[in-house]
Amino acid sequence: MKKQLSADVYEMVLSAPLIARSRKAGQFLIVQSGALGERIPLTIADADESAGTVTIVFQAVGETTMRLSLKNAGDELDNVLGPLGNPTHIEKFGTVICVGGGIGSAPLFPIIQAMKKAGNRVFAVVGARTRELVVFEERIRRTADETIVVTDDGSYGSKALVTEPLKELCSQIPKPDMSVAIGPPIMMKFCVATAREFGVPIMVSLNTIMIDGTGMCGSCRVSVGGETKFVCVDGPEFDGHKVDFDNMIQRMWTFKDREDEARHKCRLELGV
Ligand code: FAD
Ligand code: FES
Ligand code: MG
Repeated sequence: MKKQLSADVYEMVLSAPLIARSRKAGQFLIVQSGALGERIPLTIADADESAGTVTIVFQAVGETTMRLSLKNAGDELDNVLGPLGNPTHIEKFGTVICVGGGIGSAPLFPIIQAMKKAGNRVFAVVGARTRELVVFEERIRRTADETIVVTDDGSYGSKALVTEPLKELCSQIPKPDMSVAIGPPIMMKFCVATAREFGVPIMVSLNTIMIDGTGMCGSCRVSVGGETKFVCVDGPEFDGHKVDFDNMIQRMWTFKDREDEARHKCRLELGV
């Protein structure tokens, strides 16, 4: 199944019975489309064990995701590897704030489900640049105790960055017991700074560049608490207060020129 959620955001349901049976919240896939295609990590946004399917939600930001978005129901992918990464640490914390930025709200959904199932009171903050980039709102609303939607441009929900409702929720007494943020690195960096102000713990799901997904290539290296970690095998979730975001953001720019060139050529070739 393929559904276009907005101009460049797609939801796809893949047949992958073994993965559907064993996946846990927070885990991801490495997907390869085309025998020589790039391998890219995508989080498992949902799964249906009885149907043997897993759901991915992705934004067509470059060559590989643009080509993937052209796949249709019934088409095959060359490789789907997973579930990869450590599942989210779920327990009954008490009150948990879950913050999703842009496409990050989709991978946040299984975490909200698992946090609820463990008996937590869950506040969800769903943020996006603009209305059409708000994803998974309905599913999140149905699951979380309270859901706050914000957009940068005020086209939907309140006009705010996700850090504003996060700040309000963190300043409540008693303060929340745990928070989780998934989204662009710069958003997670500011969510961590907000949580730090109030002494609230925060887990972040890092989206570094990945190739093998098994700890061999080193492309997903990050510094956490002064130690080198590999996001694919040690993460993808880490204690946000310990992550060196500046180093991570700098490393994500490594292939920018080549990515821009590939995107440009791809647009010309596909006429998109
Ligand atoms: P490009 O133009 O090649 O790259 C665009 C940007 O994407 C780059 O600047 C870089 O920051 C990042 N990127 C490029 N290559 C890779 C790579 N091999 N691995 C990781 N990042 C890369 N995106 C989603 O839309 N939905 C998701 O659910 C999702 N889950 C992710 C889970 C994990 C654990 C990680 C690490 C990343 C996730 N991403 C997700 C990001 C997604 O992998 C990238 O958007 C995708 O690889 C971009 O590929 P591209 O060729 O289309 O774009
Ligand atoms: Fe290669 Fe993590 S993706 S070490
Ligand atoms: Mg690419």
